[in-house]
Amino acid sequence: MLCDKSANRRIMSKPNRQEQPQTDPGRICILRSDDSDAVEQRANKLAASLNLKIAPFKSTGRTIGQDGVYLEVAAQGLTLLYREGRNKTRVAVDFHSGKAEHRRKYGGGKGQLIAKAIGVGANPPRVLDATAGLARDAFVLASLGCRVIAAERSALLCVLLYDALKSASEAAQRATREAAGRIQVVQADARSLLRDSELYHKIDVIYIDPMYPDSTKSTALVRKEMRICRMVVGNDKDAAQLLNLAMSVHNKRVVVKRMHDAPPLGESPASSLTGKSTRFDIYLT
Ligand SMILES: C[S@@+](CC[C@H](N)C(=O)[O-])C[C@H]1O[C@@H](n2cnc3c(N)ncnc32)[C@H](O)[C@@H]1O
Repeated sequence: MLCDKSANRRIMSKPNRQEQPQTDPGRICILRSDDSDAVEQRANKLAASLNLKIAPFKSTGRTIGQDGVYLEVAAQGLTLLYREGRNKTRVAVDFHSGKAEHRRKYGGGKGQLIAKAIGVGANPPRVLDATAGLARDAFVLASLGCRVIAAERSALLCVLLYDALKSASEAAQRATREAAGRIQVVQADARSLLRDSELYHKIDVIYIDPMYPDSTKSTALVRKEMRICRMVVGNDKDAAQLLNLAMSVHNKRVVVKRMHDAPPLGESPASSLTGKSTRFDIYLT
């Protein structure tokens, strides 16, 4: 697994001031799922590195004070938890159980729209996923053999990604371990990476999937998850700038994921692949 900081440093140029990786808003709190020493130590470490407060823990159980987003620390791993009144929704990055595993096995392989858009064939391309998010797309591509540099500017999402990759690298299924080993998470603004010409010979395709407005076409759960992510990372209002920068990198294919009926992010793409709820716009630079 290539998510160690030294590997990351090699491909990172110095970000300019506006493009420093984001640290997430102070209103997000850390929540311990139990009062074991291991969980407490991890929570303290994360609180220090992410500059977040820790919600008080009482022996009667965890206390969640206000509505909002929490980073829940448990012995099994990290989760984003959103509390709204009595309702709690959890968002986890999980590559080796549930949906990811199902999609890896039965998702349609190289016939999936994303695989066709990226151009996954006998010799899978190397991809810069410039908007890693929960790395679900990155993991699909890695499962199909692509090497993926997954750039994410939210420090909070990055800790979830590192955690999930570590866990996937120890999974029972060999295919999951191998896919995890093809993903390198980099905490950075992808625009800084794209200014570093050293990166160019390491990638063939640049993939961009910015946040988009709530879609009634997605399932309720996906909508909820994306809403929570939006609370953490915001609206990606600079996505067009990211595309422009990607387009200035020669000899690369740039693929942008959009809602199926949304206008293109920039100029008209060379071609598009449209599914039920999403569309992939393909640019050849
Ligand atoms: C819609 S989510 C991506 C979802 C992702 N494709 C997945 O499968 O989980 C968009 C993510 O891109 C990140 N992002 C947006 N612009 C970025 C940039 N310039 N550099 C790095 N990350 C960026 C946001 O922080 C957010 O987490």
